[in-house]
Amino acid sequence: MRLTILIIIYFLVPFYISSQEKKIEESENDFSKKMEWFSEAKLGIFIHWGIYSVNGISESWSFFNEYISHSDYMKQLDGFGAEKYDAKEWANIIKESGAKYTVITTKHHDGFALWNSKYGNLNSLINSKSKSDLLTPFVKAIRNNDLKLGLYYSLPDWSYEDYTFHTNKIKRYEIENQPKRWKKFLKFRDNQLNELKKRYNPDLWWFDGDWEHNAEEWKSESLKKQLQKNSHNVIFNSRLNAYGDYETPEIGIPVYRPLSKYWELCMTINDSWGYQQNDTNYKSPMQIMDLYVDTLSKGGNLLLNISPKSDGTIPEQQKTVLKELGRWNKKHSSAVYSTKKGIPYDHFYGPTTLSKDKRTLFLYVRDIPKDNKIVLKGISNKINRAYVVGNGTVLNKQVLCKVYWNKYPGLTYIEIPKETLDPYYTVIAIVLDGQIKLYNKETGAIEMN
Ligand code: GLC
Repeated sequence: MRLTILIIIYFLVPFYISSQEKKIEESENDFSKKMEWFSEAKLGIFIHWGIYSVNGISESWSFFNEYISHSDYMKQLDGFGAEKYDAKEWANIIKESGAKYTVITTKHHDGFALWNSKYGNLNSLINSKSKSDLLTPFVKAIRNNDLKLGLYYSLPDWSYEDYTFHTNKIKRYEIENQPKRWKKFLKFRDNQLNELKKRYNPDLWWFDGDWEHNAEEWKSESLKKQLQKNSHNVIFNSRLNAYGDYETPEIGIPVYRPLSKYWELCMTINDSWGYQQNDTNYKSPMQIMDLYVDTLSKGGNLLLNISPKSDGTIPEQQKTVLKELGRWNKKHSSAVYSTKKGIPYDHFYGPTTLSKDKRTLFLYVRDIPKDNKIVLKGISNKINRAYVVGNGTVLNKQVLCKVYWNKYPGLTYIEIPKETLDPYYTVIAIVLDGQIKLYNKETGAIEMN
């Protein structure tokens, strides 16, 4: 008997362990597979559209922070007409910017739903001047353009009577004192989310506002499972307590390269998420390019926000930024999509990325030095060719500080003719003889001459 048990342990345990290991390995593989389109997308367009665009005040926060009463805030419903809304035009503008995905606010913290929800009683069909479901035409147009769809959904609903908070001064109840009320709210939330899932089958869930409750109160884990059912490849942003798939920094571009493999910087074009006519602090196309290229070189995605007006038109200044991005993306597509984070600044004083196979290094040159030359340091590979992306001009190189008997690779000066410069960033492709090898030793002694 003892011997049989020992035999079983001897043979089965290693089998069990290796099958478990395989399971973990496979699920890691599955994870990187599901994240593939996201990590290659690089640019997404965020859309904040809601009744706050009528007065041009801050989305939801304006009543939460009591700059306006809740009832006056809600009067904006009567002005939210979407008279000139053209979902096809929106989708074309997004497509032309070079973005590969979009994220739209289906419901912000104010609780106003952009679709004709069967649940709750605050949506664009029943309550707003538009008297229509505004989400469905948008989703259709996005799908027709082969773009990935992200749905933003606010976990807090400051208008729903069974939600805990109403404004920053009014907390309606503590969950432990009124668990039934909280359960009722969660049921309502799950119904709305299931409805969105069933109708639109998004590629990405973009949650917001998780800070108001912990994972246990939100039931974040089971919510994620519920939304993953029959949609195994759906992606979650990080604002679902600890249950997200990638990091979601907001407005502040990371100073250092984030450690996490997948991340997305969400960013306003001016200083507001929703349309505010008074906010004229627009970032110029050049400044948006600075943020974009910095994000690319750090291996992230830029989720750039636009804020349509209440009639459904996109402000001209915002359209211009998207157009400029589109022109640049088209010209430089080989140096944008599918690239990986670049090399340390010690090797090149500027943003860089690497091609997927790591055999091409891309240098992003914003300002041209006075002698028209840029310098690369400590690249151990042979450089087969340097050329201007989207233009094709092959560039002259000069290698300095290299001696034949030492492995120190020296400095490579590359000259960029003025005629090849892009108004934003000129991209130089450095084609290597294999995967990039960085020289990371200090230089050795001169032993021979
Ligand atoms: C913040 C704000 C919200 C905005 C969001 C976008 O969480 O609460 O108003 O929609 O960021 O990332």
